[in-house]
Amino acid sequence: MARILITSAIPYINGIKHLGNLVGSQLPADLYARYQRGRGNEVLFLCATDEHGTPAELAAAKAGKPVADYCAEMHEVQAGIAKGFHLSFDHFGRSSSPQNHVLTQHLAVKLYENGLIEERSETQMYSPTDGRFLPDRYIEGTCPNCGFENARGDQCDNCTKQLDPVDLINPRSTVSGATDLEMRETKHLYLLQSKMKDQLEEWIDTREGWPLLTTSIAKKWLTDGDGLQDRGITRDLNWGIPVQFDGAPWSGMDGKVFYVWFDAPIEYIACGKEWVEAGKGADWERWWRTDKGADDVSYVQFMGKDNVPFHTLSFPCTMLGSGEPWKLVDFIKSFNYLNYDGGQFSTSRGRGVFMDQALEILPADYWRWWLLSHAPESSDAEFTWENFQTSVNKDLADVLGNFVSRITKFCRSKFGEAVPEGGEYGDREQTLIEELSTRIRAYEGHMEAMEVRKSAQELRAIWVAGNEYLQSAAPWATFKEDPEQAAAQVRLGLNLIRLYAVLSMPFIPGAATQMLEAMGAQDAAWPGDVAEALSALPAGHVFTVPDNLFRKITDDEREDWQTRFAGVRD
Ligand code: 2FM
Ligand code: ZN
Repeated sequence: MARILITSAIPYINGIKHLGNLVGSQLPADLYARYQRGRGNEVLFLCATDEHGTPAELAAAKAGKPVADYCAEMHEVQAGIAKGFHLSFDHFGRSSSPQNHVLTQHLAVKLYENGLIEERSETQMYSPTDGRFLPDRYIEGTCPNCGFENARGDQCDNCTKQLDPVDLINPRSTVSGATDLEMRETKHLYLLQSKMKDQLEEWIDTREGWPLLTTSIAKKWLTDGDGLQDRGITRDLNWGIPVQFDGAPWSGMDGKVFYVWFDAPIEYIACGKEWVEAGKGADWERWWRTDKGADDVSYVQFMGKDNVPFHTLSFPCTMLGSGEPWKLVDFIKSFNYLNYDGGQFSTSRGRGVFMDQALEILPADYWRWWLLSHAPESSDAEFTWENFQTSVNKDLADVLGNFVSRITKFCRSKFGEAVPEGGEYGDREQTLIEELSTRIRAYEGHMEAMEVRKSAQELRAIWVAGNEYLQSAAPWATFKEDPEQAAAQVRLGLNLIRLYAVLSMPFIPGAATQMLEAMGAQDAAWPGDVAEALSALPAGHVFTVPDNLFRKITDDEREDWQTRFAGVRD
């Protein structure tokens, strides 16, 4: 049994995420976690909310709440929505947890002891209008790299370059809009990433089979020379992990906290401690410390492409630089962007579908299926309502839902609600078994490789094969001539439902669970030999006809939703 550690990029606490965010990290991570569990492997799947930094402070201020209260509430909201989407985290933690405070401070000390953190006096943007220093997102301006006019102080959304607020051209305060900014002297801690360049380069070069999107972004920032600039890892904010604490080897840092991107990935590890302390697990170190058994763990991270520099450079720099035996990532699966109906999703303008709204209008499986089968893997992808409607109506309702409904209803009307006895599998059944065997092995290959779209295509082809079989075997016609033969065909069909439930669980866990329950299936083990898997439900085994698994989306609904989500939400 393999041990697989999976983390999804941790979503910012401010606000509810849109479907583009979901498909870029949490959802494919869940797909992989469910698949690996389905294969019988031991999985630890962790995610959390990313609670520090300027976005959290700004959102809390806007909501008129103390930031700690705001974060606690939003964490519950996000946890509820994650549940609604059937995201099967073993723990959904918080980057503001005491565990992360301790670990972040510990790692900073280690880095300092190893000569990788130093104090630097610097001049920083100060806004007399706002009466404060302006870190990160408190400041916006033109990106010096690509000319994008709304680059944030810490990163350009357009070209993904990591920035320092002082790099921006024509900077302005996002608090007041003030442009009368001045430079003032202050002291900060710097992570000396430049010293780690060779070690990081070697580490990246020895990663095997990383996706091109991941390595090309990593290499770009590594070899451009400026990707590995030393970075300020402290900020003048109230909310965050304090830089000045008992036992800190520096002084005079009161009122400063660690930069959100320093502590956020550390939460992946702290989340393991939270998982144990919440009583859900026994030992986090055997997942995270190579001296405590984690060297045989395979660790996979899921994220959008904008997160790649932090996970290929900054975070490994913290881990390697600590000199401690932390488990490093083995595989980074990164995604392009999902666009929305001819433009971009926009949180500020409420353009596109947000996770809470999605669940209000349709069950999670509809969204999971569309998003995963259209995941932005090799390029950006686009959500359109037409495409969504077609995909749901065809793949889910016509192909899978219809199959389940036809076979169960036919059996009930002719044989009753138990797997019928009699007849034998012949050539047609043999051909189907062979096709399914080939396709299931291909499906496994794509899932192992985290090829999300290819996996969805293969799964759909597996459903189609069953439908085609049913169409050509036509038990309703066979029944008139040869009821025994029809019984064998129906027996195969009912067994296919169980098999489809097992195979489809990673994509559409809601419907898959419904299918397993209706079939009264005790055995949900991953299929080895397909012929064997298709005899799991023996003659006489009792089942029930499930409710309609999927309903169709009407043209009226599609038009209505298209208007409703075009964007105005504040
Ligand atoms: O882009 C984001 O949503 C970030 N909150 C991701 C952080 S991932 C990690 F490093 F913790
Ligand atoms: Zn840019």
